[in-house]
Order: sequence, then C-alpha cells, then structure tokens
Amino acid sequence: MGKRWLIEKRRDYYYRKAKQEKYRSRAAYKLIQLNRRFKILKPGYRVLELGAAPGGWTQVVRDIVGSSGFVVGIDLQRIEPLPYENVMFIRGDFTSREVREKLRQVIPKCEAVISDASPDISGVWSVDHARSVELCENALGLAEEHLEQGGAFLVKVFQGDLIQDLVAKVKRSFSFVKLTKPKASRSESAEVYLVARGFSPVKKGEIYEAEVEEVSRRGEGIAYIDGVKVFIKGAARGDKVKVRITALKRRFAEAEIC
Ligand SMILES: C[S@@+](CC[C@H](N)C(=O)[O-])C[C@H]1O[C@@H](n2cnc3c(N)ncnc32)[C@H](O)[C@@H]1O
Repeated sequence: MGKRWLIEKRRDYYYRKAKQEKYRSRAAYKLIQLNRRFKILKPGYRVLELGAAPGGWTQVVRDIVGSSGFVVGIDLQRIEPLPYENVMFIRGDFTSREVREKLRQVIPKCEAVISDASPDISGVWSVDHARSVELCENALGLAEEHLEQGGAFLVKVFQGDLIQDLVAKVKRSFSFVKLTKPKASRSESAEVYLVARGFSPVKKGEIYEAEVEEVSRRGEGIAYIDGVKVFIKGAARGDKVKVRITALKRRFAEAEIC
C-alpha cells in the first residue's frame, strides 16, 4: 500500500469513527446503515455471516441480535474471537463441501444470511465482477438451504452486466429485492449491496403438485407447499393440481393451475 493510500485512509471519516467506537472495520457502518433502512436483522435472530474477517460486521450483528441470538461467521482468514458465547467463527471457504457440511450441524436454520465476501482483486473489472457474482451465487445457495420462511439475505456484489441475472435469481425466492449503496460505501468503489427479504421455500416460476385444503373468502383454493400458504385461482377444496407460482408475498404465495 502506498503512502497516499495510508494518508487517505486516516483522513476517512468512517475509518476514524470505527477506531473511536472500537469496531474492527469501517465496513461496520455499511451494515449499520443498511439495517437501519431495511430492517434485515432483529433481536434474537440466528445469523449466518459469510466473509466475516476481521469481524466488524459480526460486532454489529451481535449488537443487534443480543444475547438471545446466534451468529456464525466464516472466513478464509483467522478471526480474533469476540467475547460472547453466542458468536462462533469458522475458518474456511464457504463454497467448499467441508464448510457447508459443518454449517448444517452448527446452524441448520437461521433468520438471516449476510455476506460481505470479496474475491481476491485482480484489477480487471470483468474478472472481479464475475468472481464476485460467483461468490453471491454460492451465498444464495446457502441462503436457500438455511433460511426460515420470511428470512432475509444481504450480499455484496461488484457492479457489472451479470448483476441483472443475479437479481432475477434472487427474485425467484424472495418477496422483496433491492440493489442499494449505503453512504459508508465509497462512491469510487464498484460494490453495491443486494438486499432481499421475505424468503420463500417455494420459488416463483416453479411448478409444484398441490392439494387444495381450504377455500379463501375470495374463493381461491388454499394449499400448503413446503409450509408456504399458496392461493390458487380457480381451484376447489379437495382438488389435486399442478400449479406454477406466480407471485411471492411476505406471508404467502400466489399460483395458477398449469
Ligand atoms: C471486505 S472483507 C469483510 C469485512 C467484514 N464485513 C468486516 O466488517 O470486518 C471480505 C472477506 O471475504 C473473505 N472471503 C472471500 N471469499 C471467501 C470464501 N470463499 N470463503 C470465506 N471467506 C471468503 C475474505 O477472506 C475477506 O476477509
């Protein structure tokens, strides 16, 4: 790192604030700002954090979830432990089979999956963008495996032309999806954050077998698919139908017979 870089770093508002407030990274303020706006984390939540070193986000997560929550942070680097019983760090690659197996044991289900993971920077925009999207897709896979219905997903991604495909993939599993850049993220940095809430175990656009158990006041059939309440137009009680999910809402999904 050059001398100019060091001088700029010291002049940086969030860098100094992190030092004063004893956060391990200036990135902590990105999570604070994102959570203030999007309410991703709440007291008592179980949280899986990907790319957690040196632990600034983990400190923020612990502040929010409190003593009744649980945080598991993963990184390739070793992370200095935090003095809480309900914070656990795993050293490893979250895209590897070993780490994924370990996560199934330590945090089978959770309310939020968050990732600030960055690939090694090559300096070639398209390469770094593609690597970042690949990490996001891995994070999304973990979110789909570990999240409870209604859960939240937050992931950092470097801007580029593959982002729209990623957003489309996330929209198949979440009722709310938005790309955003918090104030604490440097304007010259290529990073943006994808925020998603309202996880649904049934995916938009997918086809499922359903058995209609009830009828709503508006006359739609109601089936439960993977625990999700699904409203089906034109279906009557007792019908066994093949349906395609057409919309995800916060607490239910809508489907059409196909
Ligand atoms: C920007 S740092 C995270 C900073 C953190 N949010 C904080 O506030 O302290 C990104 C981290 O992602 C980690 N990372 C990148 N790819 C990873 C992978 N496949 N598995 C685990 N960690 C990874 C890197 O080792 C790096 O420490």
